Parts: sequence; C-alpha cells; structure tokens
Amino acid sequence: METVLSGIRSTGNLHLGNYFGALKNFVKMQHENKCFFFIADYHSLTTHPTPADLHGSVKQVLSEYLACGLDPEISTIFLQSDVPEVAELYLLLNMNAYIGELERTTSFKDKIRLQPDNVNAGLLTYPVLMAADIIIHKANKVPVGKDQEQNLEMTRKFAKRFNHMYKVDYFPEPVAYNFGEELVKIPGLDGTGKMGKSEGNGIFLVDTPEAIRKKVMRAVTDSGPVEKNQKMPEPIRNLFTIMDVVSEKSTLDYFLEKYNNCEIRYGDMKKQLAEDIINFTAPFREKILSISSDNQYLRKVVSMGAERARASASKTVREVREIIGFKPF
Ligand code: TYM
Repeated sequence: METVLSGIRSTGNLHLGNYFGALKNFVKMQHENKCFFFIADYHSLTTHPTPADLHGSVKQVLSEYLACGLDPEISTIFLQSDVPEVAELYLLLNMNAYIGELERTTSFKDKIRLQPDNVNAGLLTYPVLMAADIIIHKANKVPVGKDQEQNLEMTRKFAKRFNHMYKVDYFPEPVAYNFGEELVKIPGLDGTGKMGKSEGNGIFLVDTPEAIRKKVMRAVTDSGPVEKNQKMPEPIRNLFTIMDVVSEKSTLDYFLEKYNNCEIRYGDMKKQLAEDIINFTAPFREKILSISSDNQYLRKVVSMGAERARASASKTVREVREIIGFKPF
C-alpha cells in the first residue's frame, strides 16, 4: 500500500485548478492507499492574514475539501498547525537547505512578484516546509498540479540529502502524481497563465451561477480564426482546456469543429461553458454550504485527523532526532 499525501494552502477558496490538479484524483485514491490530506495554514502565514481571516479561511477550505468527497473515516484529514512536529522537522531540514537553490525556485520568484513588499523568509523556505509536510509521513505519492512539480523535486533533493548525510535509507523520495496521467495545469480566464487563488482569474467551487456567468463572459478572447485549422492562441486554447474538463466530449468536439472551420462564435461557446461549469460546481456548492454550517462535525473531523497525523509525525521526528544524534543523558 502506498502512502499518499497532498495539501492546499488556506489562502482562498478552492477553484477548478485545485480540484482538477489535486483533489479529483485524491478522492479516487483514498480507497486504495493510506492517505493524508491537510490544510497548509502555517504556509498561509506568508501572506500575513489577520487572526480572524486565518480561522475563517481554514474553516472554509476544510468544508470545501469535505464537500469534494474526502472521507475523514478513511483518510487522515488535518490542519498543518495541529501537527507542530512538522515545524521541528522543517527546522532540521533548513540546516541543510541552501539559499541559492531556494532563491532559484520558480514558485519563490512568482510569489515575490505577487507580493514585492512582503518578501519574508517563510516564502524563501516554503519548499522546505513543504518537504517536511510530505516526508514526515513518509509519503511516496503526492497528487498535485503541474505548478508543484518543482517543489516536489526539492522535496526529493532534501530527502536524498538527509539520507546521504547520515548514511541512512530513511526517507523515501516522493513523486508528484496524477493517477497515472500527466500532471495538469488548469488555466485562468485572463488569457495567460494558470488559474490561481491570488491571480483574480479563478472560478471557485463556491461561486454562484451569476458570478460564474459573469466571469466566463468576461474571459479574454480574440477576433476569431481567419484560416481553417489555425493554431489556437493561448487565451482561446485556455477556454478549450477548461471546456475539456467540465463539458461533455460532444460539446467540446462541436466547438472545436466550429473553430477549425472559422465559424466559431465565442459568445455561444462562453455561454455553453458557463452553463457546464455551473452544472459541475452546483452539487459542490450546496454541500460546501451545508458542511460549513456544521461546526460540530468540523470539530470532530479535525480532532480525529490531528490525532492520527500526530501519531505518524511524532514517530518520524523521534527517529530523525536519533539519526541526527540527539541523545538522552
Ligand atoms: P495550492 O494551495 O496553491 O494548490 C493546491 C493544489 O492545487 C493545485 N493547483 C492546480 N492544479 C492545476 N491547475 C491549476 N491552475 C492549479 N492551481 C493549483 C496545486 O498543484 C496543488 O496540488 N504548496 C502547496 C500546498 C502544500 C502542499 C504541501 C501540497 C503545502 N505542503 C505538501 C502537497 C504536499 C500549494 O500552495 O498549493
């Protein structure tokens, strides 16, 4: 049995990218593997949320997870901050992580572009905490979207470095995983790049139908193809990519044919896409609203998860301390 672990930052609502990048497959996988799924609330502190916002977002994301079909009876669902052992492993791994390699990661460069006035050390060492999250449970598979590939590479590097330094075969080298398929990148509606929480280009599972229609109708397009079978520019390809995940294949084929024959009307395509997204998100939205109003249930889920996650994490930290050479007198 494999150990699978994945996580999501609690810095905003879940969007289609999170669902198709990480959650969809996790929900499938949880029946055949030992699964951990957590909310990265320590990680979210890099954006300086207020205490009230922090708690509210964690609760929201937890409700959204559960609404997607994560089962707290079979998977360990927990909050990162309920497992302080991860902070200790992070500290230990930091001694062996180098400034140069951290500065070069794409996610660091992306993040400092988004928040140039708040380039804190937590952002720099973000991949170290992420590595600690993963290897503290000795996970070997990590369901993530394409944007996390490099962070997983860093995780392998830190795991390997630890093993090498202490001449042990202790940590596995985890791989990014998408149920045997290529890692996915769901694009945003602003023409370029990926859908993100902070980019203002996302469709959230909790969005109302009106909000979805508005967002999709505003999506960037162009004046239309002029030659048959013309190569698609990025904003148009992005609309098709989203359609590919939420619509019926026949709908996708219909609009592809229209595009290839230069007969496409983007307004029609967007209307259809908006309705398909609404159909897709509606059941999630309903569940999110009912789960988030059930505090007692949420409390039970996180306390169950914390207990299991701490048992697994404290075992690792105990063994790591021993390997490093911390000894009782
Ligand atoms: P986060 O919160 O940005 O995203 C959570 C998950 O959603 C995926 N994702 C996407 N997939 C496809 N297309 C997109 N547009 C898209 N946007 C987001 C991400 O790849 C991710 O799988 N660093 C992580 C949180 C984290 C973590 C971990 C994940 C902390 N520790 C340990 C796995 C294992 C993050 O910020 O994800």
